[in-house]
Amino acid sequence: MTIWDELHLHHAAVKDRPISELFENENRAADFSAEFGAFLFDYSKTNIDATTRDLLIRLAEARGVAARRTAMFQGARINETEDRAVLHTALRAGAATIPVDGQDVMPAVRATLARMRTFAEDVRAGRFAAQGGRITDVVNIGIGGSDLGPAMATLALAHVHDGPRCHFVSNVDGAHVHDTLAVLNPETTLVIVASKTFTTAETMANAETARRWMAARVADPAAQFVALSSATGRTAEWGIAPERVFGFEDWVGGRYSVWSPIGLSLMLAIGAARFDGFLAGARAMDGHFRTAPFAENLPVLLALVGIWHNQICGYATRAVLPYDQRLARLPAYLQQLEMESNGKRVAMDGTDLPFHSGPVVWGEPGTNGQHAFYQLIHQGTRVVPCEFLLAANGHEPDLAHQHLLLVANCLAQSEALMRGRSLDEARALMAAKGLSGAELDRQARHRVFPGNRPSTTLLYPQLTPEALGAILALYEHRVFVEGVILGINSFDQWGVELGKELALALAPVLEGRDPGTGKDGSTRALAARIAELRAG
Ligand code: F6P
Repeated sequence: MTIWDELHLHHAAVKDRPISELFENENRAADFSAEFGAFLFDYSKTNIDATTRDLLIRLAEARGVAARRTAMFQGARINETEDRAVLHTALRAGAATIPVDGQDVMPAVRATLARMRTFAEDVRAGRFAAQGGRITDVVNIGIGGSDLGPAMATLALAHVHDGPRCHFVSNVDGAHVHDTLAVLNPETTLVIVASKTFTTAETMANAETARRWMAARVADPAAQFVALSSATGRTAEWGIAPERVFGFEDWVGGRYSVWSPIGLSLMLAIGAARFDGFLAGARAMDGHFRTAPFAENLPVLLALVGIWHNQICGYATRAVLPYDQRLARLPAYLQQLEMESNGKRVAMDGTDLPFHSGPVVWGEPGTNGQHAFYQLIHQGTRVVPCEFLLAANGHEPDLAHQHLLLVANCLAQSEALMRGRSLDEARALMAAKGLSGAELDRQARHRVFPGNRPSTTLLYPQLTPEALGAILALYEHRVFVEGVILGINSFDQWGVELGKELALALAPVLEGRDPGTGKDGSTRALAARIAELRAG
């Protein structure tokens, strides 16, 4: 019998057990939590017991998580379908030495970081000025990992944002670049073209538009452009001078690149010292991930809870619910991190995956979500495991009373999800309102909460640059561990290719230069209707 089989058998035995019963063990909260630094990860409000945890840890051991982890940190080419190392951790490794193919990659990492620092501080201090004077605004043009990381992190750290205003343009929809540039002055704006490949259609189209916008008002538009890319040949062809190109290696995946020059807009916003804090937080989490025993290892535990809920319990989605408004873009960031990494249907060896791939990840900050989709989470027919993130303190001392309300709401939700409300309790409520008989029965049933819905809580003191760095590294490693357990390559993304190819092929059909022979009837009919609508 495999460990997977053992886990399924165990699940069959415990699946109807109320989670609340597990709290008959008075130490459950402590026994099913783990701490690292000031972080507390509480997974006690799940149906995981000691047997479950032992089985899950045995699974992680049997699937070779420890060896794979070492291979990743040492720069082995674990991204086998692209024959690349996976070394985003090197970007925050500080003084370490990391040889790849016999050569230490760290001197180049440190040199690029030093160039970024100098540039960012020059811009922030007005030493690097635009043609109209001091730079007031920065527009980062990029998509996917070249947008979500810096956009999410810049918002997350808005309370320490003391540099130029930062704007993010990603969508190929002209509305995005139009509306962003419409309110800016080209004479005091710096445009960052962020693209690892420097070929991504959306980014290149938006960059061309921004260059035309700049050229209409500025004598030397190229002087106000910066490129963040691994493709330095293409950035030069595009006309960006080498001193304003910040490169990185192919072992930095797009969705793991916020630590690289792709984070330049964040550094411009918060300054180099705080960016160092962001890297230091991630580095600390890396150290914890590398050394803590699995039973105390936050990324490993988060991954094991994920595997339990998705692959064993069969819950197809998970909700990420930050009770921290500035983490509003974290769910979107995690969608790319988790779904682009672990949304794979074949194992590393090319065989079909014998279980489901990673889950659908979604969410919104609390308390907003409470007034939108929590209804389904509490009373819908599908179980949605919830992952709460909660800062004990806000950054607005005058509004501490509001922060307390936020905290109370977060704890209330996880309690309500687990506890539910029984029919008897609902009947008593209705009786207290004066109802009786059939109407009492009918009304009471609508007010029943099944409960027994699992959630975890990641608690931290406050959202600082260090805390944010640690949270992101935690999730990166969680994705890694889940990927290793599933036996997939978490570092390629072939699934995004087909749509890109077909979009290119559709352009001439939409322009009427190609009749679209070979396209399916629906696509041809839609293209024809679009042509009619565009004509008038
Ligand atoms: O389309 C997927 C993707 O390749 C992502 O993995 C990546 O983050 C994004 O596109 C942007 O790529 P680039 O940085 O090369 O423009």
